[in-house]
Amino acid sequence: MTQPLFIRNADQLITMAGHQAGPAVGKAMTDIEIIEGGSVWIEDERIVAAGPDATLYETYQNRLEEAQVIDASGKVVAPGLIDPHTHIVHAGTREAEYAMRLKGSTYMEIMESGGGIHSTTRSTQQASDEELFEAAHKRLNQFLLHGVTTLEAKSGYGLTLEHELKQLRVAAQLHEHHTMDLVSTFMGAHAVPMDEKDNPDRFVDRVVEEMIPEVAKSGLARFNDVFCERGVFTPEQSRKILEAGKAYGLTPKIHADEIEPYAGAELAAEVGAISADHLLKASDEGIAQMADKGVVGVLLPGTAFFLMAEFARARRIIDAGVPVALSTDANPGSSPTLSLPFIMNLGCLKMGMTPEEVLTATTINAAHAIGIADEAGSIETGKQADITMFDVPNHLMLSYQYGMNHVDTVIKKGKVVVQEGQLV
Ligand code: NIG
Ligand code: FE
Repeated sequence: MTQPLFIRNADQLITMAGHQAGPAVGKAMTDIEIIEGGSVWIEDERIVAAGPDATLYETYQNRLEEAQVIDASGKVVAPGLIDPHTHIVHAGTREAEYAMRLKGSTYMEIMESGGGIHSTTRSTQQASDEELFEAAHKRLNQFLLHGVTTLEAKSGYGLTLEHELKQLRVAAQLHEHHTMDLVSTFMGAHAVPMDEKDNPDRFVDRVVEEMIPEVAKSGLARFNDVFCERGVFTPEQSRKILEAGKAYGLTPKIHADEIEPYAGAELAAEVGAISADHLLKASDEGIAQMADKGVVGVLLPGTAFFLMAEFARARRIIDAGVPVALSTDANPGSSPTLSLPFIMNLGCLKMGMTPEEVLTATTINAAHAIGIADEAGSIETGKQADITMFDVPNHLMLSYQYGMNHVDTVIKKGKVVVQEGQLV
């Protein structure tokens, strides 16, 4: 048995309680449950109790001696942040393309001429397991320092069975050896490889017939994602890939309506995807269908920011009843950031979300977007003790002072892993 941990007297303890059965929708996205003077008692990796300090003190006063006590006065204590959409297992960077885009080239032009995803695919194919592990391990440290305790990681820079499995294997090793929990997604349909350019259907067949069965057999992925976009995979090809994944137990996710309207949101609703991500150009009809089917909308304002594109219509999406989550989309081409708190700033400043909504979107709704809400995403009895403590007296400060890292302490499975803003 490990030493109990007692976090005491937070100016604000934000629990996110009460959104277990399903993600928070509409007005419920502002129900974050704030307890002033809140405390949390943790034992054996789990949250045992959370509530007003006086209540917990009464229960645990006889055991104070044996506990490690953290004074949270002056601070905000929240569930560990969750990032439900990243591409962190990759090699190389693409700053030259960024410079080209600043001069007017577009993301899709660069990709069509063999750069973009193809460029990262080449460097990732050439990298060994060890090199990929080291590079992603560093990125995970940055995520942890920015308050993230669980993230989703996609493959999709392999584009052959061998190299897709390599990326997924590295993600599994990171899950085992790094403090962070990783949830894996297979994304073999991230791009049509350059040498298959003239025969995309043949590549789709390879994803369906060769890759999906092997990936499913390996047990290395939980979700199956596709880049449904004009010039990449059509809605018909995407449907085929997502349905094939379903037959092998892989739950669909989709990169939908990122650059152009392409009925990606509609497809997400049709195939019963757990989430549809991006949605910059999602149609009203697609949004309505997502709401109807309870598909989580994962919004990635860092991508719109970095591609200098119009932001997703978060207000419309939330008001239509789609549960919304937020993510970095961390990747070397369209969103090279490792800061989820900055994405929360963008959620407020560029998409009109409220400070409460962005907290819901990066905790409990993010947990629902990757199917882990029974373990993470809120501070409730029985859940894994994943907690982020910010050095601010109230949650409004998090979106008010933007582009800063307010993380003071991070607790993962009941252990302090970041202290005073430094890795332990
Ligand atoms: O989510 N859109 C496709 N995939 C990523 C970008 C990947 C890349 O450019 O390397 C995205 O934006
Ligand atoms: Fe992405």
